[in-house]
Amino acid sequence: MNHRRKFLKILTHFGISTPFISKAFTQSSSKRRTPVAELPLIICSRGELWGQKVLQPAWQTLQSTGSILDAVETGANVVELDPDDTSVGYGGLPNEEGIVSLDASIMYGPTHNCGSVAGLEKIKTPCSVARLVMERTDHMMLAGEGALRFAKAHGFKEEDLLTEKARLIWLEWKENLSDKDDWFPPADGQYLPRKRTTGTINVLGIDAEGNVAGITTTSGLFGKIPGRIGDSPIIGAGLFVDNRVGAAGATGRGEEVIRTCGSFYVVEKMLQGMTPQEACEAACQRIVEINGGLDQGDYDDKFVAVNNKGEVGCASIRGYEGRHPYVSVISKNGFQEIKGTALTWQD
Ligand code: GLY
Repeated sequence: MNHRRKFLKILTHFGISTPFISKAFTQSSSKRRTPVAELPLIICSRGELWGQKVLQPAWQTLQSTGSILDAVETGANVVELDPDDTSVGYGGLPNEEGIVSLDASIMYGPTHNCGSVAGLEKIKTPCSVARLVMERTDHMMLAGEGALRFAKAHGFKEEDLLTEKARLIWLEWKENLSDKDDWFPPADGQYLPRKRTTGTINVLGIDAEGNVAGITTTSGLFGKIPGRIGDSPIIGAGLFVDNRVGAAGATGRGEEVIRTCGSFYVVEKMLQGMTPQEACEAACQRIVEINGGLDQGDYDDKFVAVNNKGEVGCASIRGYEGRHPYVSVISKNGFQEIKGTALTWQD
């Protein structure tokens, strides 16, 4: 049974009407390839707005240093340092106690080496700390207090990461969480539970020689239990690269990505011959399968991937904010926003 037919069968099994499925899947069924000129290229798991902000400086770094690792780090740092983004780095939404706790990972294809930090507080650029874990230690992952001490040893400055915007969002969430606790919204406020969000960004790149690098960085699940670690710092879950084929990254509910080894799964599927698009869809399909259907739970995840032919993929389980998921790409041909596929959304 070919891949597409298998997917349709699964969705039919979940009770989604066939016309909807065929339409939703038409976009990806034709082994959709998205050639992006020749290498080098860098991709970002967001559309136009953040794509431009992240990829233009990343591209400039690649031009000036020739290092794909420097390039993806420059791109990821942009969103980590921007207080307007409430899902990554400085300005990220906090855990249930109002503390911003960051996860990030980095991986480099030529050495197959990697580094990550989990539950890192007070440091604005966790992906840069993850890079030092990769390059300046014999370890691959540092967490919590140890990660903070390591960052400080390398000269990173401790800062308050909770912006006023994030604090007010957290306070509203906290006060509206339950009508059976001691936190009340203002007298004129209402009981309005806020959806718990994840954000995250993946920046993946391949240089002219085919060397692959990637970063995933996040503030994780809003309102998480202190100590919760998502998929982003776990190599193979939120990020995986393999110089033989390319790179993949995940965003969305980390628990699902961890228990499917999501990014590793996407890269393995590409090694077996799938296009990045097919591989991202296969990873979404796997998550739906293990959950027993689209109607079982409020999970959502998105994968982006790139291979060393310059093909790019992007798929999510549900539509993002009422629209298709997007990935953006920069190469010699300039910037492009590419529409991915979503199982439960169509324009
Ligand atoms: N994917 C981000 C998280 O779940 O923490």
